[in-house]
Amino acid sequence: MKSQSIETKINIYTFDELSNEIKNLVSAAKTAVNTSYSPYSEFKVGAAVLLENGAVFSASNQENAAYPSGLCAERVAMFYANSQQPQTPVTAIAVAAYTKGSFLDTPISPCGACRQVLLETEVRFGKPIDIYLFGTNEIFHIRGAQQLLPFCFAKESLK
Ligand code: THU
Repeated sequence: MKSQSIETKINIYTFDELSNEIKNLVSAAKTAVNTSYSPYSEFKVGAAVLLENGAVFSASNQENAAYPSGLCAERVAMFYANSQQPQTPVTAIAVAAYTKGSFLDTPISPCGACRQVLLETEVRFGKPIDIYLFGTNEIFHIRGAQQLLPFCFAKESLK
C-alpha cells in the first residue's frame, strides 16, 4: 500500500495587511450581506468577485421555502460575474458572513458545491482565484480553488 497526503495552505491576514484592492473587495462582500434573502437561516452571506479588468460583482445568498432551491452567495456572485463578462478571468473572491447582529469572528469557508463552481471558473480561465474569507479576528487567504478542493473532478476528468 502507498499513501499520499494533500496539504492546503492558508495565509492569515489582518484587514490592515491587505492591499487596497482586496480591502475594497472585502468591503464589497461585507456590504452585500445587506441584500441577503435568508428568512429561513437568518444567516446572511455576501460575496464579491474581482475580475482581471478590475470590475467587481457582488451578491448574496438567496433562500427559498423549498430549501434546496436556494443558492449560496459565492455561486450567485460567480454566476453573475461570469454571465456579465464571460471572457474576463476572475482573479479573486471575498466572502463575509453575518448573523445575530454581527459578522463572524472566524471566517466561514465555501461549501462543496461552491468550491466546485470556483474550480470550474479557475480551470476555464487557467488562472488561480484568490479566495479571501472574512472574519473580524482574521482573514483567511487561499491561493486558488484547487487548494480548497484537492483531488477534484474537472473537465480533464471527462477525457
Ligand atoms: N451559505 C452561503 O451563502 N455561503 C456559504 O459559504 C455557506 C452557506 C448560505 C446558504 C444558506 O442560505 C445559509 O448560508 C445557511 O446555510
